[in-house]
Amino acid sequence: MKLTDRDQEMLDGIDGEGVALAMQVLVAIGRAFDAEQMCDISRAHVALSNQDADLWFAERLVAGGAVCRVSPTVNPGFCLEFFRQLPGLSSADMETMERTEVAYRALGAQLTYDCTPYLQGNVPRFGEVTAYSESSATPYMNSVYGARTNRESAQSALCAAVTGRVPVYGLLLEENRMGQVHVHVEPTLTDEFDYHLLGYAVPRKAGLQTAFVPVFTGIPANVSPEALMNLGAELNTGGNVPMYHIVGVTPEAPTLEAAFHGDPPDETIVITASDLAEEQQMLSAEGGPIDFALLGCPHLSLDQLRAIADRIGSRKFKSEFWVMTSFYAKELAGRMGVAEVIEKAGGNLVPDTCIDQVVWKHLAGKKGVTDSLKGAYYTQRRDMEFVLRSVGDCVEAAIRGATS
Ligand code: F3S
Repeated sequence: MKLTDRDQEMLDGIDGEGVALAMQVLVAIGRAFDAEQMCDISRAHVALSNQDADLWFAERLVAGGAVCRVSPTVNPGFCLEFFRQLPGLSSADMETMERTEVAYRALGAQLTYDCTPYLQGNVPRFGEVTAYSESSATPYMNSVYGARTNRESAQSALCAAVTGRVPVYGLLLEENRMGQVHVHVEPTLTDEFDYHLLGYAVPRKAGLQTAFVPVFTGIPANVSPEALMNLGAELNTGGNVPMYHIVGVTPEAPTLEAAFHGDPPDETIVITASDLAEEQQMLSAEGGPIDFALLGCPHLSLDQLRAIADRIGSRKFKSEFWVMTSFYAKELAGRMGVAEVIEKAGGNLVPDTCIDQVVWKHLAGKKGVTDSLKGAYYTQRRDMEFVLRSVGDCVEAAIRGATS
C-alpha cells in the first residue's frame, strides 16, 4: 500500500506513540485487504462498548498521547448518573464506566453515548468518506445517505478518528457497492417491527454468512427512518450486511438496473409473510406473563417515544418498563411532556445506555418482552429471555403484565 509522506510520518511516530499505533493498525488492515492507498475521512463513530478490550485499547492510545483529529461520536456504555442511584452495580462496574469516560474524553471524542448518531448529530452528505462502527450505523450510512464506510470495528474506527485516515478498500470503492442479491418483499410492511423481522430473515433465507449487498423491491417509498434503522441493525446482526439498496428509496438505487450496476443479480429471493412469522416464532420465547419490557436497541427516536406516550395515556404498568434512548431524545421528551407520561405510568426513560451492559443484572433469569431481535440475541449471554413483539404490543404487555 502506497503511503503519503504524512502517513509515513505518523507511522514512524513523529506524532507520538498513540498515533503510530493507530497507523500501524490501519496499515495492517489496508495490507490485509490489498488497499492501494489511504484517504481522509470527515466523520467517525466508535462503537465504544465499555468492556475490557475496548477500555484496554482506548487507554493504550491515551498513554501514547493520541488525540482524535476527527472527533468521533460514541456508542452507549451506561448512564452512571442514572444507575448509581439504583441497587446492583458494584464499585468495579462503576469504575470501568468512569475509566471509559476519562479515556474517551482524553481522546477528544464527542461523549454522545448514542447508537443512532446518524439520526442526529453525526449526519453525512452523499459520498462522504467516513469510518463508522456499530451494526445499525454502518448500513444506514452507506445505504440511506450514500456516504461511504467499511464495516469498522470500534478499534479501527477509533484509529481512523485518531489519524483522520482510512485504507481505501471494500465499500469505499464504487465497484463493491453494487447489489448482489435481489430480495423481493411480498407482504405490505406496516409496522417498524416488520423491518426487524425482515432484517433477520434475509441473510437466513439467502443462506449467506459472508458479506453481501441486498437490493430490495416491494418496500414502500414512505418507509420511516426508524424502520430503516431496524432493518440495518438486524441485517448486520443476523448476517454480514454493511450496505443495502431499496429501489426507488435509497440514493444509489433509482432503478433495479442501477442498483446492480447493469449486471444480473447472483440470486433472487422472495420474502413472504410466513417467512416473517417464522422468524418471529423461531427467535421468540413463548408468550404469557412477563417481568419486564426493555426497548431501545437501537435507541428509540423522539417520534417513537411520543408514540409510546400516546399509547399509554393515563394507564399504569404492571411490569417493569425500560426504554433506552439518546440524551437528545430524552431531553426533548422531557421538554415536551412525553417523559412525564412514561414515568407517571411507572416506566423508566434511560439515556446513554446499551442493552449489553452490566446494569441489567437485576433482569437476569427473568422473562421480558422487546421488539429488538438484536437485543434478544445479545442478552442471551446475560441470561435474559425475550418474547418478541412490536413496540405497541410491548407497551400493552407491560400494562397487562403479560404478552398476547
Ligand atoms: Fe445500541 Fe447496544 Fe443495541 S449499542 S443497538 S443498544 S446492542
